[in-house]
Amino acid sequence: MNDAQGRPSRILLLGGASEIGLAIVAALPLAPDTHLILAGRNLAQMEERAATLPCTVTTTAYDATALETHRDFADTVFADADIDLVISAAGILIPQSELDRDPQRAGELVQTNFTGHVTTLLAVTRHLRNQGHGTLVVLSSIAAVRPRRANFVYGASKAGLDAFAQGLADSLHGSGVRLLLVRPGFVTGRMTQGMPPTPLSTTPDRVAAAVATALTTTTATAVWVPRALAPIALLMRLTPRVLWRRVKR
Ligand SMILES: NC(=O)c1ccc[n+]([C@@H]2O[C@H](COP(=O)([O-])OP(=O)(O)OC[C@H]3O[C@@H](n4cnc5c(N)ncnc54)[C@H](OP(=O)(O)O)[C@@H]3O)[C@@H](O)[C@H]2O)c1
Repeated sequence: MNDAQGRPSRILLLGGASEIGLAIVAALPLAPDTHLILAGRNLAQMEERAATLPCTVTTTAYDATALETHRDFADTVFADADIDLVISAAGILIPQSELDRDPQRAGELVQTNFTGHVTTLLAVTRHLRNQGHGTLVVLSSIAAVRPRRANFVYGASKAGLDAFAQGLADSLHGSGVRLLLVRPGFVTGRMTQGMPPTPLSTTPDRVAAAVATALTTTTATAVWVPRALAPIALLMRLTPRVLWRRVKR
């Protein structure tokens, strides 16, 4: 349970080296005995990236594409104690041209960004429901709103994740468990390295600050970063197809 000052006792970060995920953790009120569990593929890298966080950090192996392992994974991480906050941040971005050449890579992207979240979050949610408390933070994207021709496999994977998370949030209503959906635009950082920023691009720290603020409320269900993306998303949905297909990136 969160302590009297609202600090989570145990946090699970899926995609434990994620720049945005670690920025979110850093933006939260942490106690020295807050236990952060970093779950990912490269244990040494996760430890290195979390070295400056003022809390207790442990690492555990987790592969979003290993669907058959997710139930046991969830049973293991919840075995010791309740978890107050789960951040689902595993993801990959691969240029569409590369996916056009290699459809198997497209399958890996969908498995990482969508299917792996479904199996993991359903397994995790079973434990959160039993606890009767806890928060899930799911990293969606503006790309989920309407897939663009320049990035449609990534967009489709995020659209699937976004729809799944909305349904999961509704199914959790009244359970004491909450889901916060985060929809950033272009975030300058490791994932987008070498790509020219788009208008309204943001940073991991700004995404983290918006998430930390939303978590202080009890009502927020979704966060757009920056906030101006919410009306833009509406315009994106309403744009006639004949114009939408001309969007270059
Ligand atoms: N950056 C953006 O512009 C942006 C915008 C909107 C939404 N998002 C979403 O935000 C989330 C975090 O992105 P980020 O910017 O923090 O990128 P990041 O720093 O590249 O983090 C992504 C994390 O996912 C992990 N990962 C990839 N494949 C995995 C797998 N099969 N199993 C377990 N972990 C895996 C990576 O671990 P490895 O080091 O092992 O690869 C890495 O730690 C992603 O879901 C992304 O799609 C990002």
